[in-house]
Amino acid sequence: MNPTLTAYVNGQFMSLDDATIHIEDRGFQFADGIYEVVACFGGHFLDLDAHLARLQRSCDGVNIPLPCSLDEMAVLIQETYERNPYADAMIYVQITRGASPRSHLPQGKLTPTLIVTSRHLPQPSNEKIATGVRGITLQDIRWKHCEIKSIALLASVMGKQEAHARHADEAFWLNEQGHVLEGCSTNILAIIDGVLVTHPLDHQVLGGITRKMALNVAKAHGLAVMERAWTLDEAGITEMMMSSTTNAVMPITTLNDTSVGDGKAGKTTLRIRQWMIEEMERLRAA
Ligand code: PDD
Repeated sequence: MNPTLTAYVNGQFMSLDDATIHIEDRGFQFADGIYEVVACFGGHFLDLDAHLARLQRSCDGVNIPLPCSLDEMAVLIQETYERNPYADAMIYVQITRGASPRSHLPQGKLTPTLIVTSRHLPQPSNEKIATGVRGITLQDIRWKHCEIKSIALLASVMGKQEAHARHADEAFWLNEQGHVLEGCSTNILAIIDGVLVTHPLDHQVLGGITRKMALNVAKAHGLAVMERAWTLDEAGITEMMMSSTTNAVMPITTLNDTSVGDGKAGKTTLRIRQWMIEEMERLRAA
């Protein structure tokens, strides 16, 4: 129970414990909805505009009308942050097509459901940054629109459970050609022959806001960057890292019980992480 937490649900702020939606909500019945997660550090949102733009793209991608303008959404996100106790927070926005008697074909004009919640933003410990994360790979069993931030996350939940059962932190999806796509809730990047490589943006990966920031800071510091398909058997892979709003960039030191590179947190990865922290400080100060 979280009596001090406040949620926004369809026009009202209320205690999280009282926050409910209708059982015929299409989010519950069909996973007919999309979501967004934005980080706030001490009152400063990280790349809020990019998250709002992706929220709009996700809505457009599944043909759900945005329940309010992006400016109004920004105000709601700010207010949800302020009404909750966390200085460093993850603000979660979820929009579904709305509630109506269960039928695959939406019946009539529906009012979308909108919820906004705030949770503590967990920071990886220094020890975890130093030791890095353990990953496994799985055959991609997801749908063919991974660029949409859909709430239909069953495959990702299964992937995370498989990773957990194998004492790993994240599962990364491989497509039929063996291309390394992304994790269940992260993007994945590698250092191959000194170049920062990650799968290009298409229907197989989410356009991570953190991925973009990692590529941008790397370029700005003179590191060669290439968005291309890559496989695990490529010679020249020395480092791997994963990126997400909740992790910034984290080194991957073990994949499928095998060391990545020398098995230590990659030097370039840690450099990129540091550049990102500096960039976050710059954005915070701006
Ligand atoms: N997950 N790929 C997938 C499948 C994701 O779910 C996420 C984010 C990312 C990274 O995106 P970003 O850098 O914009 O956070 C990549 C969020 C954090 C979540 O589901 O909680």
